[in-house]
Amino acid sequence: MADFVGAVDQGTTSTRFMIFDHGGNEVARHQLEHEQILPQAGWVEHNPAEIWERTVTVVRTAMQKANLGAKDLAALGITNQRETAVVWDRRSGRPYYNAIVWQDTRTDRIASALDRDGRGDVIRRKAGLPPATYFSGGKIQWILENVDGVREAAERGDAIFGNTDSWVLWNMTGGVDGGNHLTDVTNASRTMLMNLETLDWDDELLGFFNIPRQMLPEIRPSSDPNTYGVARWPGTLGGEVPLTGDLGDQQAATVGQVCFAPGEAKNTYGTGNFMLLNTGTELVRSENGLLTTVCYKFGDAAPIYALEGSIAVTGSAVQWLRDQLHIINDASESERLASEVPDSGGVYFVPAFSGLFAPYWRSDARGAIVGLSRFNTSAHIARATLESICYQSRDVVDAMAQDSGVTLDVLKVDGGITANNLAMQIQADVLGVPVSQPVVAETTALGAAYAAGLAVGFWKNTDELRENWNEAKRWQPQWSEEQRSLGYAKWKKAVERTLNWVD
Ligand code: G3P
Repeated sequence: MADFVGAVDQGTTSTRFMIFDHGGNEVARHQLEHEQILPQAGWVEHNPAEIWERTVTVVRTAMQKANLGAKDLAALGITNQRETAVVWDRRSGRPYYNAIVWQDTRTDRIASALDRDGRGDVIRRKAGLPPATYFSGGKIQWILENVDGVREAAERGDAIFGNTDSWVLWNMTGGVDGGNHLTDVTNASRTMLMNLETLDWDDELLGFFNIPRQMLPEIRPSSDPNTYGVARWPGTLGGEVPLTGDLGDQQAATVGQVCFAPGEAKNTYGTGNFMLLNTGTELVRSENGLLTTVCYKFGDAAPIYALEGSIAVTGSAVQWLRDQLHIINDASESERLASEVPDSGGVYFVPAFSGLFAPYWRSDARGAIVGLSRFNTSAHIARATLESICYQSRDVVDAMAQDSGVTLDVLKVDGGITANNLAMQIQADVLGVPVSQPVVAETTALGAAYAAGLAVGFWKNTDELRENWNEAKRWQPQWSEEQRSLGYAKWKKAVERTLNWVD
């Protein structure tokens, strides 16, 4: 058998391709950013053609860096930004509209209407999700209603929908020459259209958004021995490789962090933060503002579910300091600037730029910086920004404890901000539990590689994957209980100030 497994990670700001060996070690990678298209306040789009072109380039370049060909890859996996919606023409391969990104809030009217007439409760019960602009269903409805000719094409079966996993997979497996229109259970569980118990599209839910069923991809397991097809686009791999793994990026990171037992959780720090708690084969319904979602499904085995706390703005708040406030030149400078002061000087920053996601789900919220006095400097703002990331995670950890009864004894972390020592120390302080980072920090691509490799026997079982996980670093809490509870109480007060802002 070939010695390596590859994974495409199609994320919100960039696309990367990574190659791993049997020990889960990185062999090569290449990564390219794509444009964030912001046509008006609250709208966020990507160009799907650019994403596909970047995918081809990152695969080709990483393979060249590692000096590998198709015969060296046992399997390929795909992982992706979830919820982002692409609708394209299966005959021409052309998108009807830009991809509408998960952060986009243009569907707020569609989302709030769902809660006025009882449909919201059906979505909560069947799909495990609170009606929100975040998920794909409303975005598909918006495209059907606002782009000329799409509804007719969808009725005919020509206009098809996918999250970016489906878009990449369809192109990889042949595109207009017979590409396969597929997705996996984890991605499908983010649309408001899939029934969590049947793991199939649900006609009642489709009716809520007036979406023709024939637009939707076939739903497959996340690790599929029957394969999603073979990746064979000319010239890039120099041969055919079976595509056997597909899962949303946060579920992939949960797999990469080997959270295979109920009660195990991870927190990923990206543009936003996403904490997932494995609840096993049990579908736990949240009463505290978390999502119920599919964690993964490996082949014929029963699906594994998760509770998820999704936070819209964490890393992107640091980008805001860089790009809009210009108080840092680079995201990593946030640590240096925030370290100039011993605390935030009474300042709290609630970055509710897209409203508040978990556990609040308040689209009427907008960001606020409170507690300012003449004494405060940019260093306090930077520190309050790092604290906001940690306090939002505390909100989610508390909600998980209430929903599941599981109290964490350690928090496994990954993602960009985990390189920021100060932020991770604050995280341990705010939570009062140690924070632990693995040696292979790229858990998202690794998780997709694991799903793909399990399907072809490259890895035998999840026990073998557990052996690959090693701790790189651990941060111990240092705050006193009093400091922790006073700080958190002030945070809650700051959150109150952001609510009821948008009419
Ligand atoms: O739900 C959105 C999430 O999947 C995006 O993750 O890492 O691409 O920002 P990321």
